[in-house]
Amino acid sequence: MTPTGPRITRRRFLQAVGAAGGAAAVLGSMEALRLVAPAGEHRQPFDPPRKSDFALQGRANGTRVLILGAGIAGLTTAYELEKAGYACEILEARERPGGRNWTVRGGTTETEIDGPAQTASFTEGQYFNAGPARIPQHHTTLDYCRELGVPIEIFANQNADGWYYNEEANGAIGPLTGQRIRHRTAQADYLGYVSELLAKAISQGALETELSADDAVRMVEFLRGLGALGPEDRYVGGASRGYVVPPGAGLQAGAVDAPPALSDLLASQLGFYFPFEHEWDQAMLMFQPVGGMDRIPRALADAITGRILYGVEVAGIANTPAGVAITFAEGDDVREVTADYCVCTIPPMILSRIPNDFRTDVQTDLASLRPVSTGKIGLEYRRRFWEEDDRIFGGITNTNMDIGTIWYPSHGYLGERGVVVGYYNYVNDADAYAAMTPQAREARALEQGRKVHGPAYADEFVSSFSASWRRIRHSEAGWVAWDERTGAVGEAFIRLLEPQGRVYFAGDHLSHVTAWQHGAFETARSVVTQLHQRVLQG
Ligand code: ALA
Repeated sequence: MTPTGPRITRRRFLQAVGAAGGAAAVLGSMEALRLVAPAGEHRQPFDPPRKSDFALQGRANGTRVLILGAGIAGLTTAYELEKAGYACEILEARERPGGRNWTVRGGTTETEIDGPAQTASFTEGQYFNAGPARIPQHHTTLDYCRELGVPIEIFANQNADGWYYNEEANGAIGPLTGQRIRHRTAQADYLGYVSELLAKAISQGALETELSADDAVRMVEFLRGLGALGPEDRYVGGASRGYVVPPGAGLQAGAVDAPPALSDLLASQLGFYFPFEHEWDQAMLMFQPVGGMDRIPRALADAITGRILYGVEVAGIANTPAGVAITFAEGDDVREVTADYCVCTIPPMILSRIPNDFRTDVQTDLASLRPVSTGKIGLEYRRRFWEEDDRIFGGITNTNMDIGTIWYPSHGYLGERGVVVGYYNYVNDADAYAAMTPQAREARALEQGRKVHGPAYADEFVSSFSASWRRIRHSEAGWVAWDERTGAVGEAFIRLLEPQGRVYFAGDHLSHVTAWQHGAFETARSVVTQLHQRVLQG
């Protein structure tokens, strides 16, 4: 993907997560045919398998399932299958559960592929989520938090007082570049000018064929409120864009600035950030587990009774006449384990390198998936200057610099220290940071963030830890991007939804919600349902 224009727009984000318009178009027509639940229905139905399913058949369940990978998909598969008495065992290459769900705390170590060892030296209680970090209300992820007793808190994905900062670069120009502007200010100005223009067009009769006379009146009334329009329906600014002198006691009425010229506003490209903030998966409210995202996989791992074998790498996957045989390396030993079925959640790029007996077209499919680069850095600060100096409590600052965004912690408010995510970027920007040493990433993140926050950004800094997902062993990508998941051109996706003999595939890459834990939970549920039906019928 070659970036053109502003760095983070809704379209570019959707391209990065591989959610192109095609799927939405298909869904729209399915809704019209009433083949899917109407908008507003958030949950996919799921009936967990039960022990009674076997009791009703007059037998006990002795089925053994070997699960490859203790990320969200693998853990969920074991958790749900165990509800019906399946004997599950998980093989995991890392020394911890969670996969890309990874919370970095003091003592966390990682050596990226071809990179130096990093050890986080964050203070006790400080952390950041290097992988997933936000959960929409409608995601299945929250159902598992409820079921497993994982407490959640609000994750501030938008903050009216967060900053927008566009440099004169990537198409942004004019007097509003090179300075920080509050979200609320930019939004008020865009809404104001758009409302003014539309109200004028309607009043001048330019939309007579589109609007009835009654609707024209109603629309202008709506626009006056939306844009806080002044006399003659002109936008002249107002309190919603923020004060330069705040209102207070007695005679302190407060003072506001005049808005910038529309032309300067448009040239700044600040408006490109708005659509993303209203995206289906990005709109507030959003949530995070209290204490770190890894509370979820840890709760799942605790709830599973079967063995999770950590630090073992799968070396071969084969179907046998009555089951599966998996070879794996444990240190210098190569061992084999057999089971009735296998559920494989190994990322496709890695799986394609493991000897297997899958059909040739499936092997080609696995090797063809496009890994997406993404990266984050956590910067620990000894003082929460974003709260004390800028009055920003959580939320995200958007920039058109290669750091992409700066995230302020949505916990520990009013405390002393905090870990800020100093960059979260994708694709080419993420590749550029991946190529740097951890020290160089830190230096660049501090240099860029300083433009927004001034000297405190370097002066209050304590230590950093960065993750470039293309170079993180056992993941090798933030997620994968599909060009298509439907129809003739989406046949690779459709093929991977089918088992290869007794080997099933699961993981967010096999969903329409890639790059979210929800996708992993949903594919696990889907595979659990398919496998259970097969066992019951067998
Ligand atoms: N789900 C990921 C995010 O929200 C891609 O940034």
